[in-house]
This record gives sequence, C-alpha cells and structure tokens, in this order.
Amino acid sequence: MRTLVAKVSPEERHRELVNAVRTHDHRYHVLDDPTISDREYDALYAELRKLEAEHPELVTPDSPTQRVGAAPRSELKTVAHVVPMTSLDNTYSAEDLGEFVRRVVEGLPARADPAYCVEPKLDGASIEILYRNGKLEGGSTRGDGLTGEDVTLNLRTMRSLPLVIDYKEPLTLRAEVVIFRRDLERINRERAANGEPLFANPRNAASGGLRMMDPRIVANRGLRAIVWQVVEGERLAPTHSGALARLAELGLPTHRKERVCKTLPELLEAVQALDAERRDFPYETDGAVIKVDAFGEQAILGATAKFPRWAIAYKFSAEQAVTRVKDIIVGVGRTGVLTPVALLDPVQLAGTTVSRASLHNEQIIGQLDLRIGDQVTIEKAGEIIPQVVSVLHAARGGEERSFTMPEQCPVCGTPVERVPGEVAVRCPNRRCPEQVKGAIFHFSRRFALDIDRLGEALIEQLVAREVVRDVADLYVLTADTLESLERMGKKSAENVLASIERSKAQTLARLLTGLGIEHVGQVAARQLAEAAGSLETLLGWKEEETVAHVGAIAGFGPKLVESVRAYLADPGARALLERLQKLGVSRPQPRQEATTGPLSGSSFCVTGVLSRRREDVHADIRARGGEVHDKIKQGTTYLVTGEKVGKAKLDSAKKFGTKVLSEAELEKMLEGT
Ligand code: IVH
Repeated sequence: MRTLVAKVSPEERHRELVNAVRTHDHRYHVLDDPTISDREYDALYAELRKLEAEHPELVTPDSPTQRVGAAPRSELKTVAHVVPMTSLDNTYSAEDLGEFVRRVVEGLPARADPAYCVEPKLDGASIEILYRNGKLEGGSTRGDGLTGEDVTLNLRTMRSLPLVIDYKEPLTLRAEVVIFRRDLERINRERAANGEPLFANPRNAASGGLRMMDPRIVANRGLRAIVWQVVEGERLAPTHSGALARLAELGLPTHRKERVCKTLPELLEAVQALDAERRDFPYETDGAVIKVDAFGEQAILGATAKFPRWAIAYKFSAEQAVTRVKDIIVGVGRTGVLTPVALLDPVQLAGTTVSRASLHNEQIIGQLDLRIGDQVTIEKAGEIIPQVVSVLHAARGGEERSFTMPEQCPVCGTPVERVPGEVAVRCPNRRCPEQVKGAIFHFSRRFALDIDRLGEALIEQLVAREVVRDVADLYVLTADTLESLERMGKKSAENVLASIERSKAQTLARLLTGLGIEHVGQVAARQLAEAAGSLETLLGWKEEETVAHVGAIAGFGPKLVESVRAYLADPGARALLERLQKLGVSRPQPRQEATTGPLSGSSFCVTGVLSRRREDVHADIRARGGEVHDKIKQGTTYLVTGEKVGKAKLDSAKKFGTKVLSEAELEKMLEGT
C-alpha cells in the first residue's frame, strides 16, 4: 500500500518553517520556555536555510535567516531619537516615595485617583527601537539623550526581538539591552579559554556588545532587549501597564513584572517584593521604577528639563556578600598616601565579581579588628567601590595574621612619614613612580588639562622609561621619543603631541586643578585662579601676599589657605610652575562678574552621577548667584545627589544639617519653579 503524502509547495513549506522558527525563537528567547530540543530547532533552521538556498526568490529581509546578514562596519552612524531619552529621578526611602505620590496628586486635577505601575529597573544599556509598518526598522543607543548610535544591525541579531509584528502603526519603544547572568558565565568561560580578558559585569558586556561593529560577533553575545516603555504607540492601550501587556501579546520581549498599585502602602509592598525576588531574575536590576499608569495623566504631569514628573526610580540598598581576606597589599596614590587594599576570594556582588576592597587606612583596619585570613562582609557603597563593612570574628580559626603598615614605600623604598594629627601614612618621595603616574593621570583628566590622548598605558610607559618625571616633561616630549614606545605609530604619536599642545590653552583654573594641590578641587582652583588672574601673578606673590590674597577668598578656611601657601612656598613646586610658565601652559583666567540671583545666599555641593556634566551644573548654580562647595562643610545649604551617591556624603549632610536635594529638585530651583 502506498502512503499518500500531501505534497506541499516550496512557498508553503517556507512559510511553515519561518513561522516555526519564529515561534520557537520567541518561546526560547522571550518566554524562556522552549518546547522543542536544541537539536530539533537546529533541524528546522537547517531545513529553512537549505530551502532558501534552493529557492533564493523566497528569501525576504525578515526571514529568520537574515538576522546576521551584514558585514562588519567601520563606525556606527549617529541618529536622532524620536523623543529625547531623559533619565529618571532617584529616591532611596519610603518618605521620598510618599513625597513623589504627593507631588503627582498635586499635579493632577482635583478628583484624579492615579494608579501606578511598579516594575524593575533593569541594569543594562538603554536603547530606542522603532517598528514601522510592522517591521523592525531601526534602533539606537541612548547616546547623549538627543542622539545615539545606530545599532539596527546589532538589534536584528537578537532573537528575542521579532523582525515582524502584527501591528502596523508606528511604534517607538524604549528597552534595556541585558545579558543574562548565565550567558555571561558562558561567555567568560569561553573568553578565559581563549586568553581574553573577562567581563566584570553583565552591564559592561551588554553595552560593549551592543556597540560592536561586527554583527556576527554580536549574535554570539547573548544580548537580549527587554522593553520598558512605549513612547510612540498610544493606541496600544490607555495605560502603561496595558501597553506592556499588549506588547507581550505581540511577541515583544517585556519584563512581565509590572504591578499596578493605588496607594502608598501598596507601592511600598510592591517595591519590597521586587527587591526580594530580583535575585532570582536572570538579569541584573538596581531598583524599581514607579510610573503613573495612565498615559493621559503622564501627559498632564509632563517633565522638567531632565526628568519626567510621572516616574521615579527607587534604588535598592547595597547588596552584601561574605568572603575571605586572602591578603592585604598596600597601594600608593597620587599624593603619596599609602592605602591598604584587601585581596579577597572572588565573590559575586551586585552583578560584578569582586576580588579587592579598599581598606582606606590603618585606623579603619584597627576599628574593624581585621586580620589577614578573616571572613568579612563586603558591600558596594553607591554600588561602585566595594567596602569591608564588618568582620566575622566568631569564624576565626586561629590561623589569621594581623597586618601592619610598612615602614617603607612599597614602590620606591623611601621611609614613610606619618603626618602628625592625621591617620594617613605617606611616601614623601615626589619622584616615586606611582606618584608621578598618578599626578600625570590626574593632570590629563577631562576636568583638568583634558589631554585626551594620554591614556593610562601610555603614562605607564612614559614613567617607567623615565622620559616623564613630572607634568612639565609632557610639554617637551618629541615625536621620536613617542614613536620608540610600544604600540605607538607615527600617526598616534602625532595625535598625542597635538593633544598635549592643545592643553596649553586651558585656563589657569584647569591648570591649578590639574596640579592636584591638597584640598584644592575644581571649585577652589577656580576661585584661586580668579583671585590671581594669571600664573605670572600667582608666582609673583610673596609669601605674605599669598596668605593675604588667598585668605580673602570666600569660603577658604585655614586648611586650604595653609595648603596653598605651603605649595607655593615649596621650591620644587615653584620650579615646576616656572617651567610650565616658560612652556606657555595655561591662559589667564577670565573674570566672572559677581552674580546675584534667586540662589544668592545658598550654597550647593553636587555629588554622584548626574544627567549632565557637573561643570555645567556648577555654572548654572553660580549664574543664579548660588555658591558651589567642593565638600560639605559647616554652612553648606544643599547636597545635590545624582546617581550612585556614597553613604559617607549622606552622613556628612546629616552631620552639618545640609538638606539633601535630588537632581530634579535642583533643576526646579534652577528653573525658578
Ligand atoms: S523609565 C521617561 N523604566 O534607567 C522614562 N527606565 O535612570 C524614563 N531603566 O535611562 C525611564 N529599567 O535606561 C524606565 N523599567 C524601566 C527601566 C528604566 C531601566 C533605565 C533606563 C533609563 C534609566 C533612568
């Protein structure tokens, strides 16, 4: 007997295969719930490829085989965002959240009864994604918020993102590109096997991967997009939560963790629930985002220049981990201060592998009663630098060794000095290679002389070969010397020299910042530069004149005056300044008229990562008559907190009665509302 097999046409089989591959991509990459084995999937995919090879006319740009079509590019194009990508204001406490709810209610018509959507704040790289006419048409990185880099080809490689959807209206979405922890582990295993450097955390791996030039490599990075906002596509639903649900139905990857709440207690409970669950999420999160749910109400509330008024981020407190201190080593900083650093058994903490933690100074080691070999609890302060917060003394086994600071600099061997009245131990040798490197790096930073071509690796070589022993030596470097260094061609050498040459035109304030005079940060450097006007005048002051001029600068206390006096009286420092002057470094400081304005009488210390350059924030405060303080001190009116604010800053605000402002609140003051 013959079995009758219905003969399907190549067109029909193609359609079936395309649909099957799409469905299984979605099940695997979005729902994390595959229904067929990898082998079965590979067979379907191979059949599709074979069929397309035999019938090239069947290939369409949105076939699953066309995700990785493009050859590497040499650069990413810049594209404008459909709507600027703003950032979010942050809160850290229930009170702040209550304040947000109060402001929302106040901003809405009298009888409004807003609902809120609580969802995870994903810790990856944010992107904009465009669907036009049901097709994935474009995508870009956040960039500066107004324009980003075109990463369309890389987005097409992400099998979580459908190339076609059943929705023809324009859709502009915002999403986070993330790498699942398990994928990062796999990638790092492969990298270790190839002798490549490992990624420290999923965020770095995601944002690096997103911007790679070769889509074929991107396809292997395990990047996934997770949508968290609709900026164009209001017709999907009248609410944010409704729109997310519709997107999920359309096969788009959303986080699916949204919860709608009405009251503050409900909001707090939802935030806490997220904090408890997030360890089980396959990706990293660093907080919750609370959004007014109705698009209509979002529109009424609007946005400040920086943030929407209808959303806020609630940052989770630092994660902790327990590990063992294998050893304590001593590093030497730019100012010669010796800093003990704990080497730890590597441990995962808030998405990164931590293997060292700063111990700050001997006194802190004493206070913690920390010994080498101890089990310790570590935490990330402001989620950047890991700190040892406590020692598990009960876990000691008797093998632990106590630590003492060395009597000699571990780098140059010079006997160290203990500064009376200070906890710090210093290497007094200004020529100590570690200090020279640190000084040159600081000098070249963006906020100082801005010598952008002078990277750390180059500084390392210049100092090791003793071609550069102080910052003035930079200005006598020659092309020959540079070209004799490793990895330095003619063109790069020219670029380095040009960037050094350009730095001569920086203001005196930048130069004084770059010199790293103790206690003289950007703000004090600028005041000092304005008081002197030029390097020549500064060098012409006699010691008493220095004390008189510097002492008269508003906000300069005795410590700062003494530091400037001592610096300018030091023969080594003077010789350096005179050399810099002869070499034509720095231009006179333009004078700023004293300004009075709505912020007169208030002073601000700005800290953390802001949505724009800190210098610009300072300039805006000054332009409205406000004073800027480098550090919180007696009399500082406000501490302005960006993202990743250290606990120490918040503690000193408490100590001095300084009011803590969010960036959004400052923007409101600047706008005069
Ligand atoms: S809403 C106008 N929701 O956090 C809407 N942002 O600090 C503003 N992010 O740049 C953002 N998950 O990259 C929103 N569920 C989420 C988010 C989220 C992560 C990122 C986003 C943004 C940054 C804001």
